[in-house]
Amino acid sequence: MLETSTGIPTYDLPGPRGKAIVARETATLTTGTKTAPIVVKQASGLMVEDVDGNVFLDFTNGMVAATGHSHPKVVKAIAEQAERWLFINSPDFYSPLQAEVAERLIKLVPGIKDKRVFLCNSGTEANEAAIKATRYNKPTRKRLIAFLGAFHGRTMGANAMTASKIAQRARFTSNLPDVHHVPYASCYRCPYKMSYPSCDIWCARILEELYFKQLIPPDEVSAIFVEPIQGEGGYIVPPPEFIQIIRDIAERHGIAYVDDEVQAGMGKTGKMLAIEHFGVTANCTSLGKAVGSGVAVAAQVLDADLDFGVQGAHSNTFGGNGIGLAAIKATLDVMHEEKLVERAAELGEYFIARLRELQERHACIGDVRGKGLMLAVDFVTDRATRNHDSALRDRVLARCFVHGLMLLPAGFSALRFTPALVVDRSQIDHAVAVLDRSIREA
Ligand SMILES: Cc1ncc(COP(=O)(O)O)c(C=O)c1O
Repeated sequence: MLETSTGIPTYDLPGPRGKAIVARETATLTTGTKTAPIVVKQASGLMVEDVDGNVFLDFTNGMVAATGHSHPKVVKAIAEQAERWLFINSPDFYSPLQAEVAERLIKLVPGIKDKRVFLCNSGTEANEAAIKATRYNKPTRKRLIAFLGAFHGRTMGANAMTASKIAQRARFTSNLPDVHHVPYASCYRCPYKMSYPSCDIWCARILEELYFKQLIPPDEVSAIFVEPIQGEGGYIVPPPEFIQIIRDIAERHGIAYVDDEVQAGMGKTGKMLAIEHFGVTANCTSLGKAVGSGVAVAAQVLDADLDFGVQGAHSNTFGGNGIGLAAIKATLDVMHEEKLVERAAELGEYFIARLRELQERHACIGDVRGKGLMLAVDFVTDRATRNHDSALRDRVLARCFVHGLMLLPAGFSALRFTPALVVDRSQIDHAVAVLDRSIREA
């Protein structure tokens, strides 16, 4: 039933059944981040069917279900594990499954240092663990550094590190103090109005050359949080030197380097972890989203010397639950068997070339960027000023939904494309055709 349609459909959204569900959710759920009135009945691979029988091609689900919606091997592994045990209080007891998953996650992370894994339920919790572990082991260092445009989560600690939209920060001012945000390397719209490479990567060097001399005593900083590619901030790919210089600065000053791979990790950039593009290693690596193919599971993989080492200093209830562990194990198996990382690299080349063709036809597309199957197009009012055209982006997005293509926005004026890594060329072609038509209509 769920096949990529060859023609471009046009739907009234929400349909009559969908409308009723939208009303029920609106009456009961807190305000979140709803983007479109698509009311899902079932999903498989990259296809989603709504309660009114409309069929969508989902180019958002690779962010979290990189193996595709309900990959049969992942579903089977979860079902079998549910029969064996769902919950054994994994932080308190032991299991072969937990031991295997921890070993495999450690192998995933570049570097030769001895590592430890904290299993948890969300990317936010993985980042909270990094905040606590680095603070715990560097007790005199009470400051943290993150970047403008960053997204690290929404609990009070992680939210203090987040700075991609004002709505995430407004009225939450009393969370973690002494968090410093500095501009990220965004070459398309350089915050310093410089050009790469003549800028000599000032956006990285400024940390040591000005901030550490005028505002942030480096020996008081426990950790610096870095997204290897900024996700919510707009799929911004920094030049390699940016990551390398920041990494060196962290090392020189005894600051833990936290690599937040929650959005960019797990194969979608064409490497298992996005940090591999930059040839550096991290002290803490936050894994989430796609690590469990859609199951709420995440992990913090940190240097063994950042472990808490004291019973009870940090733990949780559901970290290491049976479903989460089975989902991670099956996800890693499927990624290996189906060569999904290689697939992301190869199809990413094809996809970005197709998006660049669109850019040639539509002056409103200022930038096409990303790596592998983590791509974005950025809408501008004109190419000279590169000013954001958020309104146009929103109109294009709305037309994509109506024409059966599920996408998400990113940053102020970008649309992001994160299809599951099992996507094929014909689905990419279909998505590009829908986008083309939606831009013309918008
Ligand atoms: C880079 C990054 N870190 C952390 C998070 C938070 O993850 P979660 O929503 O699973 O708590 C996100 C979510 O979008 C993210 O993109």
